Amino acid sequence: MFETMSSTKGALFVCLGNICRSPIAEAVFLHLIKERGTSDQWKVDSAGLGGWHSGNLPDSRARATLKKHQIEYNNTARQITPEDYYEYDYIFGMDKNNISGLKRDAPSDSKAKILLLGDFDPEGDNIIRDPYYDSGSEGFEKCYQQCWRSCKAFLDKVQNGEI
Ligand code: 4NP
Repeated sequence: MFETMSSTKGALFVCLGNICRSPIAEAVFLHLIKERGTSDQWKVDSAGLGGWHSGNLPDSRARATLKKHQIEYNNTARQITPEDYYEYDYIFGMDKNNISGLKRDAPSDSKAKILLLGDFDPEGDNIIRDPYYDSGSEGFEKCYQQCWRSCKAFLDKVQNGEI
């Protein structure tokens, strides 16, 4: 009832299937807030615009990439719901299609900020490309690096009161 008085902020990471990019972004964000000692200030999750992979673990290449960087991840895929638009302050898409889908589906009175995660990348690599149909795992490593830089820069901005 008094949710608006809470200082907890919500960050939801969204891609198309919730098995490649958004779980990596979520895992990196969870790792970074833990490292900063600010986990209790955040409600964090990820979701897909589509529900084809609901209940599944991330793609094995996403899991291998996180493992390689010693980042834990235990969540499973789910599809975004209308309630998410009220429960999260920041909803991050990975590419322009994600942003269009999120804006299309947002309830008209939602206050969530729909943001392109890569817009926070200090290297300016703002599109986190879908690596699902790649034959190898290089695209997953690139996604990881982009998520790392962007999440870090976003958290710095929050910490500095710029957001
Ligand atoms: P993601 O990648 O959006 O980064 O999770 C995809 C995973 C699955 C599908 C598309 C993209 N798919 O069509 O099943």
